[in-house]
Amino acid sequence: MTELDPHLLGTRAKAMIDALASISADPGRITRLFLTPEHRRAADLVGRWMAAAGLSVSEDGLGTVRGRLPGRGERGGANGARRLLIGSHLDTVIDAGAYDGTLGVIAGILAAEHVSRTRGAMTFGIDVLAFGDEEGSRFPFALGCSSAVAGAWDEGWLDARSFDGTSLRDALRRYGKEPTAAGQEAYDPDEAAAYVEVHIEQGPVLEAQGEALGIVTAIAAQSRLSVALTGEAGHAGTVPMALRRDALAAAAEISLALEAIAREGAADFTVGTVGRLAVSPGASNVVPGEVELSVDLRSQTDAVRDRALERFRNATAEIAARRSIGLAIETLHHQGATACDAGLQGRLAGAVEAGGGRPVRLPSGAGHDGQAMAGLCPIAMLFVRCKGGISHNPAEFASIEDMGQAVAALIRFVEGFEG
Ligand code: GLV
Ligand code: MN
Ligand code: MN
Repeated sequence: MTELDPHLLGTRAKAMIDALASISADPGRITRLFLTPEHRRAADLVGRWMAAAGLSVSEDGLGTVRGRLPGRGERGGANGARRLLIGSHLDTVIDAGAYDGTLGVIAGILAAEHVSRTRGAMTFGIDVLAFGDEEGSRFPFALGCSSAVAGAWDEGWLDARSFDGTSLRDALRRYGKEPTAAGQEAYDPDEAAAYVEVHIEQGPVLEAQGEALGIVTAIAAQSRLSVALTGEAGHAGTVPMALRRDALAAAAEISLALEAIAREGAADFTVGTVGRLAVSPGASNVVPGEVELSVDLRSQTDAVRDRALERFRNATAEIAARRSIGLAIETLHHQGATACDAGLQGRLAGAVEAGGGRPVRLPSGAGHDGQAMAGLCPIAMLFVRCKGGISHNPAEFASIEDMGQAVAALIRFVEGFEG
């Protein structure tokens, strides 16, 4: 084991976080969506950091940046060598914080650089992966890049349209990619020894426990739906209340039904969110004729999530029928709960303890690229305390000291890993 300086590692991580935070579509706030010019600039910067860290850099057909440190005796990263995959994502939600995703990419680069400088190579190869679509903020699907890397690319996603109307095919072309090449560069399962990701917790548990770092036990099951409601637009001054088919009033009732169902499942960490409403025609003196609402429903187990989903569908159908509203529900994302590998959890915990921490074990309510990567190889996640548990919010914050401890723990994990 080499001597580590967590303060220096954290200071470097913070400078890199700040550099990525300055790359945004919107002045004064962070918005960096999949396959946008901002994604391009962030990917280029990360590629330069990877090269400076001694990694050989490539980019796949969906824009995932891959920085490779070959294993000992492996010439130029030839296929067939076992490799440890370390990654996270560069895309953000709209009006995001600076740490979600970026910290994991940066931690991977700093850890690989440390190994490259201090040892030259390990017996296994290391690939640092910077994915571009964890959030699903631009297109209706999520985890597209990591699904492709894991061999689970869905050809149907090429036909998806972004929330601003661009098809994925066009977005790929504009990004300089050939759409038919998307999803063609998956790892061979024999090559991928494990996937590990550092990520801010995005919740309050570590702060409440007074610990900087936590080991994720499992990632919650998540479903995203699009609910389309069709009523009848009409004059706000003349259509009597009893005769209205108001799509927005129905959407409001459906949102409250989702809230009630999720609250009843709170013990199983069931959570339900309506995050986006598109109201048409959207004028103050017109009864809303059409509404499209997004639904995000999660729980710690597939069974509990599925039961809540069924109750939500039944409640929605009842509300729509009672109000004479047309209803169409589309499933956009349906991801099972994902267990983190017990052996890797133990190794991560050992790496945290070696730095003087008490590794708290906790589940993740947030979705992560690890969910897609679990289809390829065993996964592990290291959570980092964030202030007030706040995330998906510009107030997101992790301290230099905590980030430094996380990078140091990742380095120890890598040094102790046996491909
Ligand atoms: C991603 O952050 C998600 O959990 O939706
Ligand atoms: Mn994330
Ligand atoms: Mn996120």
